[in-house]
Amino acid sequence: MDRPLGVCLVGCGRIAGAHLAALAALPDRLRLVAAVDALPDAAARVAQAHGAVATTDLALALGLPEVDVVLICSPNDAHFDHAMAAIRAGKHVLVEKPLAPTGAQARALAQAAEAAGVVLAAGHTYRHGPAFHYLLDHWGDFGKLMAVEVTSCVRWNGPQAPWWATRAPEEGLILSLFAPHSLDFVQLCMGEDDPIRVHAEAARWQTGWQGEDQAMILLAYPGRRMASVHISYNQPSIIDRKVLHFSKGVVEIEDGEFLRFNRELLVEPPAGVVRDGRVMGGRDLGHYFRIQLEEFVEAAHGRPHRCVTGGQAARTIDLIDRILADARAHAADAIDPPPPPELALDIEQAVLVDAFQNRL
Ligand SMILES: NC(=O)c1ccc[n+]([C@@H]2O[C@H](COP(=O)([O-])OP(=O)(O)OC[C@H]3O[C@@H](n4cnc5c(N)ncnc54)[C@H](O)[C@@H]3O)[C@@H](O)[C@H]2O)c1
Repeated sequence: MDRPLGVCLVGCGRIAGAHLAALAALPDRLRLVAAVDALPDAAARVAQAHGAVATTDLALALGLPEVDVVLICSPNDAHFDHAMAAIRAGKHVLVEKPLAPTGAQARALAQAAEAAGVVLAAGHTYRHGPAFHYLLDHWGDFGKLMAVEVTSCVRWNGPQAPWWATRAPEEGLILSLFAPHSLDFVQLCMGEDDPIRVHAEAARWQTGWQGEDQAMILLAYPGRRMASVHISYNQPSIIDRKVLHFSKGVVEIEDGEFLRFNRELLVEPPAGVVRDGRVMGGRDLGHYFRIQLEEFVEAAHGRPHRCVTGGQAARTIDLIDRILADARAHAADAIDPPPPPELALDIEQAVLVDAFQNRL
């Protein structure tokens, strides 16, 4: 029996709560040893609840011999420095998506992890649900894949963390923060191939941030396969739908949980997991984070696992770089000027809806 791995959590904000709940559900495998945050109070709150050390100093936490693995839940801009420090300290690392702000940085992390002999995994959380596992485990039953459509539209009334508001349009908002989930799914379906052509349109409808909050992406893959992705932060009636066109029929995955093949329901979640897929917080997301941590533990012990590892995740970041460049090349005029009053959505102030901790 393995002893529980000692965890250092870096970034004790919104999404950290989902990881901590998952960690608490796996006491025989993981225990929190250190909580790091730039804000001492945030680190102290988490550390106190778990009997861990609180610090603002990542190097100090990485120096603790009890730390085996590092969970990085800091803002996107900090991922590269935090992950590189953890890798150099010889720790296994799970980095929230996106693995790094640019493809070049993501690849540098992947190479560093390989050289150090540690696991580098990216938090593409929604891969870890039963419907996706079923899809992969039965892939051969559906015939040849021809096309994938992903629609993932939610409503955030303004920035959900302060740093969302200050991201420059060139860094991407929804393309950086939300697209990684949809693109990871597309890349998962396309195996080892990256797109041969990328087309992207993007626009901004809200005034509370500077980046694009809506995008449509069209991708052409080798072997005549293609994919489309529509993402939005502006849709009050949530859509989370994936449609896969195979030579033997259509696989549809609704709300990440209901899988149908040619309209026949093959996978559905236990009662209560999807209470109302149309509203923020209407789904329980906890099992995704728990399964992701279980897989990460398997990886850290050198056993087979389903984590998205550095090289794979870096390919997705490379793809995001290409999409951002295409959107900036011809759609900047729909993003950079604030939406005119007749287009701006009716949002008085940022309303914080925490879909992860506050399961409505
Ligand atoms: N997998 C998912 O579904 C999912 C969902 C939400 C967010 N995320 C990702 O999680 C990450 C964090 O997002 P969030 O919404 O929790 O943000 P957040 O702002 O709520 O939390 C970030 C925390 O990091 C701390 N921090 C900032 N700079 C730091 C530094 N240099 N060193 C240490 N701590 C620092 C902040 O004080 C804050 O407590 C982002 O990369 C985001 O993309 C993933």
